[in-house]
Amino acid sequence: MENQDILTKDIDETRQGEALEMAAKGGEGKKLYIESYGCQMNFSDSEIIASVLIDEGFETTKNLEEADVVFVNTCAIRDNAEQRVRGRLDIFRKAKKANPDMVIGVMGCMAERLKTKLLEEEKIVDIVVGPDSYRDLPNLVRVAETGQKAVNVLLSREETYADINPVRLGGNGVTAFISITRGCDNMCSFCVVPFTRGRERSRDPKTIVEEARQLFESGYREVTLLGQNVDSYLWGGGGLKKDILAKGDLTGTVNFAELLVMVAEVDPDLRVRFSTSHPKDMTDEVLHAMAKYENICSYIHLPVQSGNTRVLDIMNRGYSREWYLKRIEKIREIVPDCGISTDIITGFCTETEEEHQDTLTLMQLVKYDFAYMFKYSERPGTLAARKFEDDIPEEVKGRRLSEVIDIQMQNSLESNRKDLGKVHRVLVEGTSRKSEEKLQGRNPQNKVIVFPRENYKVGDYVNVFVDDCTSATLIGTAVK
Ligand code: 5AD
Ligand code: SF4
Repeated sequence: MENQDILTKDIDETRQGEALEMAAKGGEGKKLYIESYGCQMNFSDSEIIASVLIDEGFETTKNLEEADVVFVNTCAIRDNAEQRVRGRLDIFRKAKKANPDMVIGVMGCMAERLKTKLLEEEKIVDIVVGPDSYRDLPNLVRVAETGQKAVNVLLSREETYADINPVRLGGNGVTAFISITRGCDNMCSFCVVPFTRGRERSRDPKTIVEEARQLFESGYREVTLLGQNVDSYLWGGGGLKKDILAKGDLTGTVNFAELLVMVAEVDPDLRVRFSTSHPKDMTDEVLHAMAKYENICSYIHLPVQSGNTRVLDIMNRGYSREWYLKRIEKIREIVPDCGISTDIITGFCTETEEEHQDTLTLMQLVKYDFAYMFKYSERPGTLAARKFEDDIPEEVKGRRLSEVIDIQMQNSLESNRKDLGKVHRVLVEGTSRKSEEKLQGRNPQNKVIVFPRENYKVGDYVNVFVDDCTSATLIGTAVK
């Protein structure tokens, strides 16, 4: 999620046509350029941002030089994510020299974290907008156009953008994200997200199902339900989850397993994925829904962070090593073909060599199909930053990270080798990056599969016999 490249994408022609019809609005004839960094939620948010501004008459562009408004949707999760954004601001500075009327806005988690400080540190920034204030963008752009700085970093307890129909930015027309919750109430001690994205709230399930239906009707074949912690999704007709629970009234509520089923029932040909699951909240009910519905993909991203109970405890994760391993056993029991991936942090405050070894042994026990692996990066204001010293030297964090990566490389290769000699159902997402003659897509376990194009096309479901692999890709041929 972190390792996504710059994304700057255009809207399709129909929406551009609509934009022209709304010529009387404030964005008439103006061009918007957006780059997104960070998690899938950020990419999904950029589609909401584009939608808000297209309703104002803006058109999107892929060309920075011709943009009137340049937005960068940012990530604050690790220091290097923020440094990357600052590097982009240097590039924008050059573009603005050539076009002094250009308005430059920073949105998302880094905007929320730094607030007006960002205006002091980066003089070229005109607009700073947090993740809950995107409806205010037309107004903020108008202020910035008069030469003033515009800031809105208010966080909300209610905003879910439920009624906004996201503009699908430059995707493949087959797979799309749908946000189902915003914010996070978990307070993992290393994490800045509760501070940048605010309190957790769930979106009205009717609007989620309707969005999935519309996507299916316009040719999409896969949706990924997004939230910082999807398992804590709970809709009770409004208000915060805790308010509902406090009233002891769960009648008429919809939990995550029920929501999954509602979306899966839109059509058997619509694949459903979800991310991210939290080990402490993932229920057997969700696993049973996955086992029952073929179109709910057998794949769970279940971040473990560390394999040691003491470290998990000071991370405030809410589970032990043993609990986590039991949840893995349960997944294997109820959804035997399930793909499992994880997130791992090395060198968290006070982590000893033995505790690091526990992460390695846990990886060997679970045999993840895939993992995102990071060195701990202290984030100002988090519980860990306030309570613990960031005492593991950079080179030790780095060495531990390479040990984690080495094990994962072996495990990914092993996992892919197990898939050889089998037929996989692939939803075709596009042309292979390496060859025009080949198509690529994913199996339900989220593995990328490449095969000769023949007469297949994007959006088809194809049965592919896999007979070769690398640690990253399965390779095969279509079978009838
Ligand atoms: N340092 C390093 N990695 C972090 N993550 C979250 N906060 C930090 C941090 N301060 C990782 C976690 C999380 C993923 C999205 O990013 O592994 O699951
Ligand atoms: Fe996404 Fe914000 Fe987390 Fe970055 S810090 S991964 S943008 S939620």
